[in-house]
Amino acid sequence: MEYLTVKDRIDPTAQPVALNRPLGLVNDPSSRIFPFKVHGGRQPYDKINKTMTILHLFPKSGDDKDAYWKGYDWTKAIASGQEYAGLDFSGEYDFIETTFAYPITHMVAPKENTLSCKECHIRAQGRFASVSGVYMPGRDHSRIVSTLGWIAVLAAICGVMLHGMGRILMKRQKEEQS
Ligand code: HEC
Repeated sequence: MEYLTVKDRIDPTAQPVALNRPLGLVNDPSSRIFPFKVHGGRQPYDKINKTMTILHLFPKSGDDKDAYWKGYDWTKAIASGQEYAGLDFSGEYDFIETTFAYPITHMVAPKENTLSCKECHIRAQGRFASVSGVYMPGRDHSRIVSTLGWIAVLAAICGVMLHGMGRILMKRQKEEQS
């Protein structure tokens, strides 16, 4: 995984901002298929410094008005969170769309919502319709391999039938001889 840190500059024109990103490519032999859940969020960022921010959300005491859930003031919540982390805050913020990829071990879907094989292994409109470079049974197919395969199946059936017939005939011949 590659993570964005609070010190990394973001590009607010390219939304959503990926807070993390799984590394790996279809044509990289050491890459593995791994299930993720992509969580979409809307978070405050520093408009001048172009960084994500650390928020002070929960009050430490009853009169902790800097905490968002006490004072309901984003500027104070961001300023005190950034200060606590030793980071700069320009004082100007805005909200930005973000994504965060969770491993599937977080928020497991109920079994009724699990994927069926056909959601990926299907020729048209499957979840992997736009992923090229991997061979997926059910989606991809090679005419030559399929034809050769069916020829082999038919040849095997013919072979078994001929062999069986041969044995029946041989048995009859033996019975007639004795
Ligand atoms: C989330 C999508 C997804 C689902 C759901 C899924 N598969 Fe796959 N499956 C893949 C992908 C992608 C590949 C190709 C992997 C590659 O070639 O690197 C694959 C490959 C395979 C292969 C070939 C393995 C090999 O070694 O070539 C078989 C067999 C298979 N899947 C069976 C199943 C069955 C059975 C189910 C249901 C129980 C299922 N798949 C569900 C995505 C999926």
